Amino acid sequence: MHAADERSAASRLLSQWRVFFQGFVQHPRMVGSIIPSSRFTVEKMLAPVKWDECQLFVEYGPGVGTFCQPVLDRLPADGKLVVIDTNPLYVNYLREAIRDPRFHAVLGSAEHVEDIVRSHGYDHADYILSGLPFSTLPEGVGPNIAAATHRILRPGGAFLVYQFSAKARDFMARHFSHIEQGFEWRNVLPCQLFWGWKSDAS
Ligand SMILES: C[S@@+](CC[C@H](N)C(=O)[O-])C[C@H]1O[C@@H](n2cnc3c(N)ncnc32)[C@H](O)[C@@H]1O
Repeated sequence: MHAADERSAASRLLSQWRVFFQGFVQHPRMVGSIIPSSRFTVEKMLAPVKWDECQLFVEYGPGVGTFCQPVLDRLPADGKLVVIDTNPLYVNYLREAIRDPRFHAVLGSAEHVEDIVRSHGYDHADYILSGLPFSTLPEGVGPNIAAATHRILRPGGAFLVYQFSAKARDFMARHFSHIEQGFEWRNVLPCQLFWGWKSDAS
C-alpha cells in the first residue's frame, strides 16, 4: 500500500471510530462497546459460512459497518445483505458510506426481523449475524430476538453471534440444539463466538 492510501485508510478508520463512539455516548447499554470489533473477530466469525449457499445474509447491530464490507466481499453477486440497527446515527452513516446495490440498511429492531426479511422479498434468511449486546438489552428483547431468528432462518442456516459474555448462548440454546463455540482474544474486549446451526429437520 502507498503512503497516501495508508493515510486515507487510517483517516477512514478514525472517522468510523468517531461515529461509533458518538453512538456509544448516546446509548451505552444498546451499543455495549466503545470501539468496533477487530479484523480477527470478523475473519473468525465469518469463516464457517458457506457463501455459495448464501442468498440473504442479515446482520443485527452493524454499528459503523465493521462486518459489512467483509460480508459483501464474500457474498455472491446476486446475494443481498440486510442490516438492522436501532440507532439512526449508524444507519444514516452506513447508507452514505456503502453504495453497493446488494446492501440495505434498515432502521429498526432485530425483534422485527421476520417482517423485514419478507419486506425484502425473501421467505427466509440463510445466515444471521449478531453483534447485539444481549446482556444489556431491555428485559425480554434478547429471548424475542433469538426466537424470531430461529423461525426465519432456513434449515441448515446459522445464527452467528459474538459477545463479551456468554449470555447470548443461554438465549440461543432454547432454539438451537447444535451450537459451536470459539474465542477471540485479539479484540477489545476479548470475545466469545457462537455459531448456532438450525437443524435440517426444523
Ligand atoms: C456492540 S455494537 C456492534 C458493533 C459492530 N457490529 C461491530 O462489530 O463493531 C451493538 C449494536 O447493536 C445495536 N442495537 C442495539 N439493540 C438493537 C436492536 N434491538 N436491534 C438492532 N440493533 C440494535 C446498537 O445500536 C449497536 O449498533
